[in-house]
Amino acid sequence: MSRRVVGTVVVILILTAVAGLQKPEGQRKSDDPVARGEYLVTHVAMCVQCHTPRNTRGELDRRRLLQGAPMPVRSPWPEQEWAFQAPSLAGLPGGWSEEQLIHFLQTGKDVNGRHARPPMPPFRMTREDAAAVAAYLRSLGGTTAFTRPG
Ligand code: HEC
Repeated sequence: MSRRVVGTVVVILILTAVAGLQKPEGQRKSDDPVARGEYLVTHVAMCVQCHTPRNTRGELDRRRLLQGAPMPVRSPWPEQEWAFQAPSLAGLPGGWSEEQLIHFLQTGKDVNGRHARPPMPPFRMTREDAAAVAAYLRSLGGTTAFTRPG
């Protein structure tokens, strides 16, 4: 009897372990910070819309993904301070560590306590989201080697 109970428990344990290994694809992806970062950057916080240059048709130039772009619009309030260039983020912004970027995305301030000018949004991300964004941007490291035409 007790041997049968032990046998059943062992079978259940094995089945649970196997089920754990067969996580659905989507679930496994969201565990990956780089994939989550790509999702946030592309579809939620929309970093790509401002930090990627556009072609003559106004579409994002995927070959220069997140390599910095001019701001095509100016502030509706002429007195407001405003930035006309969004810097490159591919492989992290120039000279920034991953930890500095995480701090910036959580507080809206850089290491010197300065905030970025509008239209850069003052994000207040969770540490987890900020770390995912940083991991993704870092993964784009190689692309900064592109020479920017014009
Ligand atoms: C609406 C347009 C817009 C969006 C969306 C946007 N940015 Fe920016 N970002 C800018 C502009 C413009 C600047 C330049 C600000 C300046 O020079 O003061 C900037 C600056 C930055 C800087 C440099 C800040 C500094 O102090 O030097 C970082 C880092 C950055 N953005 C990261 C991001 C990330 C990551 C996202 C998405 C999570 C994002 N941005 C979304 C427009 C945008």
